[in-house]
Amino acid sequence: MIDKKEYDILVQEIMECTKCELHKTRRNPVPGEGSLDPKIMFIGEAPGGREDETGRPFVGAAGKLLTMLIESIGLSREDVYITNVVKCRPPGNRDPSQMEIYTCLPYLRRQINIIRPRLIVTLGRHAARVIMDLAGLKFTSITKQHGTVNVATISGIKVIIIPTYHPAAALYNPSLKQMLIDDFETIKKYIEARPSDIKRGPLDDFIK
Ligand code: URA
Repeated sequence: MIDKKEYDILVQEIMECTKCELHKTRRNPVPGEGSLDPKIMFIGEAPGGREDETGRPFVGAAGKLLTMLIESIGLSREDVYITNVVKCRPPGNRDPSQMEIYTCLPYLRRQINIIRPRLIVTLGRHAARVIMDLAGLKFTSITKQHGTVNVATISGIKVIIIPTYHPAAALYNPSLKQMLIDDFETIKKYIEARPSDIKRGPLDDFIK
């Protein structure tokens, strides 16, 4: 069982966070949402305009595509947990700075520690770089590493990391969209082939 109280405290801290400049321009922080015993934890880069308005991750155009992809592998948004590396919108949807990422990262670490996902799917090269770094794995490029299945340990928790493209990049690029669809097929096959791998066991199972 996850510690729901600890999760709620974390969300509250994110809602009140003023640790970086982004709090001055955000409308709403976007902590993340979904199952707290998820089949997959999806990690994007940072909230965009619609997410900033609503306080929910991936609810704009890219979110529609993500939702479609999740449903295409027989899951719903309620079966997964969706969050971002950075919890507040960078103005004008610019990339978050290294400092913003570094300042926000403890929140993501704590989310991973509390939720203990078995399978993390990163969306886009920025999230892939940050998560592969956290796991002590080498990130070369999203072109080379999308759709690969990486066994890793983050804060003593064993996880599988599958990087894929960002749905926003695929919106107007049919060949990227096809690769994203193919990567989701890989994710589906992985889940079907290794159902016990994605079921959370007692905490001891995850400590190396
Ligand atoms: N892009 C992201 O990386 N995250 C969101 O929540 C929305 C768009």
